[in-house]
Amino acid sequence: MSTTTTLSPLWVRVLAKRAEAEGICSLELVDVDGRELPPFSAGSHIDLHLPNGLVRQYSLCNHPEERHRYLVAVLRDPSSRGGSSAVHELLKEGDVLQISEPRNHFHLVPAQHAILLGGGIGVTPILCMAERLRQTNVQFEMHYCTREPSRTAFQARIAASSFADRVHYHFDSGAPEQKLDARTTLGTPEAGKHLFVCGPNGFMDWIIGTARELGWSEDNIHREYFAAAEVDTSFDGSFQIKIASTGAVLTVQKNQTITQVLEADGFNLPISCEQGVCGTCLTRVLEGAIDHRDMFLTDAERAQNDQFTPCVSRAKTGCKTLVLDL
Ligand code: FES
Repeated sequence: MSTTTTLSPLWVRVLAKRAEAEGICSLELVDVDGRELPPFSAGSHIDLHLPNGLVRQYSLCNHPEERHRYLVAVLRDPSSRGGSSAVHELLKEGDVLQISEPRNHFHLVPAQHAILLGGGIGVTPILCMAERLRQTNVQFEMHYCTREPSRTAFQARIAASSFADRVHYHFDSGAPEQKLDARTTLGTPEAGKHLFVCGPNGFMDWIIGTARELGWSEDNIHREYFAAAEVDTSFDGSFQIKIASTGAVLTVQKNQTITQVLEADGFNLPISCEQGVCGTCLTRVLEGAIDHRDMFLTDAERAQNDQFTPCVSRAKTGCKTLVLDL
């Protein structure tokens, strides 16, 4: 697996590893030499280069003004391809690991009223946003949906925070009256009202689908997926990619990704998640019809047909060649 990123690598030490809830641990990371870490904004994430060689992205969940540490939280995922189990089983306090500088694809845009919705471990960027909104005195409410209290991370931190009264918990295991009523929570769309949502794919689809039904503008819906969507690959075929700068034409077989083909040809395209989630491999497309399979671009961006994530996306059936701006 490639571990190339476009950002400067940093070396950090695991200062603390804490159990935050059933199946969830947090890592407090500090610079190995005790220096300040690069600044970050609410919604940012970092790459962790894990001891088993995998590179995974985790949202920063501490206060975005902190420079002395980064805080991430990781859910042990039974269907994980090895990232979460490496964090839970291999990493320990005192370990040194490489991370990337923070980057942000989930910006906290200016809002008159923000609705923050976190599903499960998706609470991590949401918590960081709540810290920022409280600090800047923006009106907001935070809804935190989980299966049950024992699997709900950061309850003590939230209770001790200055925004505790803005947080509403919704447990799947709880009474019907405390469950999230998405329609009522989202309410009538307004120009200054913005939704920020992060969580499992089903949760995201439900919330975003409800917002659309209520007439929300796409410009007011902000989201971050942390898992790739299930895609039916049974009809995948081969196609060609053309490198615009050299004219080289490469064939992508049905069981290959474009990034694999580029890498095999010696092309050093930055990649990270390889799931269409992080946007690291985003590449401009000059010609050809794209079959978007990522969770990163918005519908409006996809419709433009001028950029894609080659780690998962392909040429549409019937399109023989994609011309890449490489
Ligand atoms: S590497 Fe993350 S979207 Fe392609």
